[in-house]
Amino acid sequence: MQDLRTIILAAGKGTRMKSSIPKVLHEVCGKPIIQYVLDIVKSIGSLKTYVVLGHKSSLVKKYLPQDKIVIEQKQLLGTADAVKCAANYFRTYSGNVLVLCGDTPLLNKNVIRSILRKHKRSKAICTFLTAIVHDPQGYGRIIREDAQKVVAIREDKDAVGFERDIAEINVGVYCFKSKELFKTIKEVHPNKKKKEYYLTDIIELFFSKGYKIETVETEDSVEGLGVNSREHLALAENIIRHKILKKIMSQGVTVIDPHTTYIDSNVKIGKDTTIRPFTYIEKNVRIGERCIIGPFARIRLDTRIGNNVDIGNFTEISRSKMGSNCFMKHFSYLGDSLVGSHVNIGAGMVTANFDGKQKHTSRIADYAFIGSNSTLISPVKIGKKAVVGAGSVVTGGKIVPDGRVVMGVPAKIVAKKEEK
Ligand code: UD1
Ligand code: CA
Repeated sequence: MQDLRTIILAAGKGTRMKSSIPKVLHEVCGKPIIQYVLDIVKSIGSLKTYVVLGHKSSLVKKYLPQDKIVIEQKQLLGTADAVKCAANYFRTYSGNVLVLCGDTPLLNKNVIRSILRKHKRSKAICTFLTAIVHDPQGYGRIIREDAQKVVAIREDKDAVGFERDIAEINVGVYCFKSKELFKTIKEVHPNKKKKEYYLTDIIELFFSKGYKIETVETEDSVEGLGVNSREHLALAENIIRHKILKKIMSQGVTVIDPHTTYIDSNVKIGKDTTIRPFTYIEKNVRIGERCIIGPFARIRLDTRIGNNVDIGNFTEISRSKMGSNCFMKHFSYLGDSLVGSHVNIGAGMVTANFDGKQKHTSRIADYAFIGSNSTLISPVKIGKKAVVGAGSVVTGGKIVPDGRVVMGVPAKIVAKKEEK
């Protein structure tokens, strides 16, 4: 959209999280909450994105992509104050401004697009997102005149009598005409109880000026969830997890038990792979086609697995690459390793990849056979078609040549492997 800029409000303390890290950096399915909001903004074609930071801003700043413009809110005086902090950047701008909260990971891009469309079509001064929820506690309630025109948003702490029962709530996504927003926001007074400047009070001011206000309702009320507490965090995790699983299944992957399968965001799994119960797959993992993963497997971040691979119970693979047609069926740990194809990793093999100071990489070439209960003290190289005997300890720095057999503690070359 040519005339659209975005402000993301993310300066708040997140007091209810009771955390030492900023709320928006808490992860949901391996991805920080604010990244969900940034992804939405990216998908709608906003020209510039301003992120208002305050509490522990340097931590969030470090995380944000370079192209985002960071605005510091020096004192956390509320959401209206946060928007006001951006005013200088908007002095000569007369397009539309989308204002989002950094704590809403479940937003749907289609609903944001429909806000923008309605805002343009209706020529409203403000179009904002509402949701009908079972439990409106904690949210701003939408006050309508004769159940139609929006008159105001009443914050939870100020809602009295019938207002408390209003199920239509403010999600915290607004599209404003920039000029009117920055003019009227100066008129917002601090809230009497909390002494904060509420962005939501601008709605009543717009109404009193006779400005047009429009709303769009979410397709699914859960999209409006703002993460304010650990309980909300778990709820968001649960919802996004099931969305991820649904998508993966729609791409031809069998998930035997979605209730005990945990797959982070940004995981790709090939067709006809089966994920057995109690499996955890972390972010940025790629798994090929026709694999069997689990039960009780943990595939950790940045791992790559080829096709036709069988990863069985009580196994962990971390930051490793494994080619196709490999087996690692029981009780093994593979960390920071590069494994070729047709490799068999016996029960109980462990890569000792951390020397107490740093991690080291091991390589296991094609057709190697790693015996049960063996330890590879990284860095080691196991050659093509080489065999590591059961119970061996291959000490750090060792290179096992192609086709050779090593055995013992420490492992020594014992014979040439017979060609079959
Ligand atoms: C806010 C809305 C409420 C809405 C709810 C939806 C206000 C006053 N209330 O309430 O109507 O139903 O979101 O989730 O806006 N922030 C700043 N600076 C501040 C204060 C907050 O940047 O000084 C940021 C926070 O980091 C957060 C967002 O604004 O991302 C919303 O603040 P939060 O405290 O979570 O507001 P809610 O009480 O949830
Ligand atoms: Ca919130």
